[in-house]
Amino acid sequence: MAATFEAGRPVSARTRELFEAYRGELLRWNRQINLLTRRDPEEAADTLIRQCVGAFDLWWDASGQALVGAGGALRVYDLGSGGGLPGFVWLTLLAEQGVAASAALVEPRAKRAWFLERLARLPGGPPFAVFAARWGEPVAPGAVPALARGAGADTPILFTLKALRLPEAAILGGLSTAEPVLRSTAGVAVELVRFQPTVGVTAAKLSRALEIPAPGERFQAGGWTFEAGARRLLVPTKRGQRSATAAGLMVSRHVAVDSIEGGAGD
Ligand SMILES: C[S@@+](CC[C@H](N)C(=O)[O-])C[C@H]1O[C@@H](n2cnc3c(N)ncnc32)[C@H](O)[C@@H]1O
Repeated sequence: MAATFEAGRPVSARTRELFEAYRGELLRWNRQINLLTRRDPEEAADTLIRQCVGAFDLWWDASGQALVGAGGALRVYDLGSGGGLPGFVWLTLLAEQGVAASAALVEPRAKRAWFLERLARLPGGPPFAVFAARWGEPVAPGAVPALARGAGADTPILFTLKALRLPEAAILGGLSTAEPVLRSTAGVAVELVRFQPTVGVTAAKLSRALEIPAPGERFQAGGWTFEAGARRLLVPTKRGQRSATAAGLMVSRHVAVDSIEGGAGD
């Protein structure tokens, strides 16, 4: 049976082809690498891809489009990618939107990192680097992703996390190893997007648990100084996006206001 990846809207033929190829890789390597449940992995792959598509649309409409802005460049870090979720799916959909992404998928487990390297070589797939390390650990100089066309020190940064819980400071702190050359530029927006259940959580509770600074607060992390912006919990409400497996998203955004002279990474 043909897989369905759509979550409320059709995807392009190119995107569909890439999702088919990705699904094929997940199913091919699942047994050796443990990427999906062994019970009905086909259904699991489709559900997970669909969940990431629905979550992308939710984020893109509510925040992503405004974050990327005209010109369409973005630096992306998917932390704890595992088998590439949501990293591979989101990068494919960003490419569909014409966004030039300079991206890294971060995964410390060697077999999973190997699998991600395979995905990076899928013909016509979105370009990305693989950091085979825990986030914040040093990475080989060659692993830092090349900047995509139109990207520079003022390009916004997006973090995505699905099924990995890291507090705000641990995420932002890793910028000192991941962006050692670019450093911070005043005005750069950094957005953190965490997959969440759609019920039983609130933005206030999550902000406390994840130590997300309150809007307007100034704080330092990773050799950067930030002013905290809005914190929002996005929950799917549109027809086609709501389902038992749809994800909610906790989104927090900060703006770099200054860099700390001689900070970590220098
Ligand atoms: C539960 S899996 C989630 C995988 C994928 N995001 C998904 O939803 O299918 C969490 C992944 O995070 C990785 N991980 C754990 N600690 C990490 C860290 N500090 N930095 C980056 N990745 C980490 C693990 O190796 C594991 O593959």
